[in-house]
Amino acid sequence: MQYTNEELKNKIIELKSKLSVTVVGHFYQRDEVFDLADITGDSLELAMRTKDDDAEFVVFCGVGFMGQSVKVLSPHKRVVMPKVACCAMAKMIDGLYYDESVKFLEQNGIPKENILPITYINSNAEVKAKVGEMGGLVCTSSNAKKIITNALGEGKKILFVPDRCLGQNIANQMGLKSMVIGQGGDPKEADIICYDGFCSVHQLFSVDDIEFYRNKYPGILIAVHPECDPAICDKADFVGSTSQLIKYIKELPEDQKVAVGTEFNMVNRLRPKNTYVLSSTKPECPTMNETTLEDLYLTLKAIEEGNPINEIQVDEKTQKWAKIALERMLAL
Ligand code: 13P
Ligand code: SF4
Repeated sequence: MQYTNEELKNKIIELKSKLSVTVVGHFYQRDEVFDLADITGDSLELAMRTKDDDAEFVVFCGVGFMGQSVKVLSPHKRVVMPKVACCAMAKMIDGLYYDESVKFLEQNGIPKENILPITYINSNAEVKAKVGEMGGLVCTSSNAKKIITNALGEGKKILFVPDRCLGQNIANQMGLKSMVIGQGGDPKEADIICYDGFCSVHQLFSVDDIEFYRNKYPGILIAVHPECDPAICDKADFVGSTSQLIKYIKELPEDQKVAVGTEFNMVNRLRPKNTYVLSSTKPECPTMNETTLEDLYLTLKAIEEGNPINEIQVDEKTQKWAKIALERMLAL
């Protein structure tokens, strides 16, 4: 039977009130799903807040690595995802590609013990575990600068995976030298060696888009996520994680125009007026958008029937080391 969105919404509210569940939603979720979440936030906030939540089930509306991070941090929790959609960037690296990156540094005269790996949270548990086992840690877009600043204190070369843009942007902000594996350069000369991964959604923003808005609305501000290319971040007035963008934009005077370079769903609900999407193409994250109200309803219904679907499992060894990598981040 096909339900309308209004019917689905009512059924979801009813199931939520009966079951020991916490529905979690990232800022990029569709509006109708986002509105029904008990906990919302950026990837760092979601990892921290769900860790301390005491419902039996976490129903995570987001992308695979996010639900997996909750399971890694709290293995006793039952984590289910209405859609186990995989972030395109996270998919660009696995354990083998990670090992090859380490080998590349070794072949270029940097021994393993002189490498400090940092993985962006947008990576799977296998990569986080390898990073943890090598003494490294996780970062998110909201704490990357802090994590890298701290890591530099160890006097090692930083191997940053998988997002080259985040690695390069932080290096530029801090006046450090960076390079991207496969794009030339000597790792011995660089402070941060980045893996060549990227987010296809944040690649949609261009310098032409910035020029278009600056010409059309003189005085407009440009605010972007650090997954955008360094050429974009260099020209922006503000660069920040999803939560940092929301705070920055909500604090602007009402008549201040701003063009925002991040996912469409979030930009669309930011502010009723004077807020523009920094692209002529709708920057929707296909995987974040996979989760529908119907998926959320079916997931809750399956829990009610005692037969949960899409439950996240992580093997013991991966869980142990990935947790260490995540906890090193949380400790900072
Ligand atoms: P945040 O850490 O800002 O939530 O970003 C996650 C993400 O996937 C951005 O594309
Ligand atoms: Fe992954 Fe990009 Fe989607 Fe964020 S916007 S979840 S990095 S594909």
